Amino acid sequence: MDKLLVQRSGPVQGACTVNGAKNAVLPIMAACLLSPEPSVIERVPRVTDVLTMLEILRRLGVGATLVGDRLTIEPGRFAGTLASYELVSRMRASICVLGPLLARQGKAQVAMPGGCVIGSRPVDLHVKGLQALGAKIAIEHGYLVASAPRLQGAKISLGGTHGSSVLATGNVMMAASLADGVTIIEQAACEPEVVDLAHCLIQMGARIEGHGSPVVRVEGVRGLRGARYRIIPDRIEAGTLLIAAALMGGEVMVEGARADHLGAVIDKLAEANVSIEKLNGALRIKAGEPIQAVDVTTLPYPGFPTDLQAPMMALLAVARGTSVLTEKVYPDRFMHVAELNRMGASIVRQGATAIVKGVGRLSGAPVVGSDLRAAAALLLAGLAAEHQTELQGIEHLQRGYQNLEEQLVRLGARIRRVRAGRS
Ligand code: EPZ
Repeated sequence: MDKLLVQRSGPVQGACTVNGAKNAVLPIMAACLLSPEPSVIERVPRVTDVLTMLEILRRLGVGATLVGDRLTIEPGRFAGTLASYELVSRMRASICVLGPLLARQGKAQVAMPGGCVIGSRPVDLHVKGLQALGAKIAIEHGYLVASAPRLQGAKISLGGTHGSSVLATGNVMMAASLADGVTIIEQAACEPEVVDLAHCLIQMGARIEGHGSPVVRVEGVRGLRGARYRIIPDRIEAGTLLIAAALMGGEVMVEGARADHLGAVIDKLAEANVSIEKLNGALRIKAGEPIQAVDVTTLPYPGFPTDLQAPMMALLAVARGTSVLTEKVYPDRFMHVAELNRMGASIVRQGATAIVKGVGRLSGAPVVGSDLRAAAALLLAGLAAEHQTELQGIEHLQRGYQNLEEQLVRLGARIRRVRAGRS
């Protein structure tokens, strides 16, 4: 597999553009199964997870083609009901086809997503929500085997031990859109990606209210039209670019970033002495002053997003002072700590908390990204480290970032890709 050679970079100057949101497009691709009509989705990021979801749809018998950032999905009278372990093990988000398959086909077999490096990935809230709508769901040989001749609206609470569930909210919202009667989802996830899914479903003819709040009301309808929808910009990619600019110093315009999706992040960066100006459809960051230590706790939206916990840790590793970083969504999401410490960081993990003692300089080292956001964090750390960092595991980056490396290089970052087998 290729690797990236990263040198200390900055100050940088320039602009970059945010792609469509991976975590919005994946459930929206599943939502297109709810209608027999063709759907066209725009601003689709060309990331590995989207290609995996394309493969899942095709194996269901659904036509799906991505040309540039424009995705066409033609379900027609598809007959498939299986999402195989081979594909689900590549991407746990595949579970979001469960609700649409139940609503359209009356049955589904979806492999249970195993655990992964960021922690266990339970599906109890997905099962609870769909069973409340009348589905019978059993676990057989590692698969969720579900059936529901007809879904019936219900009142459901989707709060888990770690807050709401983004994809469980999506699964229930999609299934409820074609159920008989009204569904009330309490403790629903409020993430912008859930709101984007609701907007797409409404555009298809669904009747949904309260999306973006903890109580969502869905009134089932007989059928849905195909979607014509444009995905929101990726707030996690935007946040990653902002943190990269903060680490390198300089002035960067992040085009397409939505300040209303990044409130907690902008607030925390301001506290860390990084000024971000909100413009119409963009964010301008000016960085150069010393980074101040700040305490961060990840929470469901609108709290600080867990997906930016690792990149933020890379920034706090070189801040002045000691930061306390608490992970309330995925308490085990700390695989990047050991690798950052190999780069000279001084981070001690205590359960779901990391104590990050800022050091003046990181030192480049050979490191391995264990998951999507850990790989991003190590790439960013390399931009602020003396000597060269050799980053492996960059296949994880491509799961969720369409062109992070190119965006950073265009800003002036010193990153070189080395093809596998060459030095
Ligand atoms: C979505 O995953 C995102 N993925 C994740 O992004 C993100 O970290 C997560 O939401 C939280 O914001 C996609 O949207 C494709 P959850 P999801 O269900 O929906 C627990 C990335 O890096 N839980 O909101 O699977 C769970 O263990 C990825 O882009 C249950 O207990 O996450 C976690 O502690 C990583 N039971 C918490 O809820 C369930 O049935 C939030 O998980 C489901 C979840």
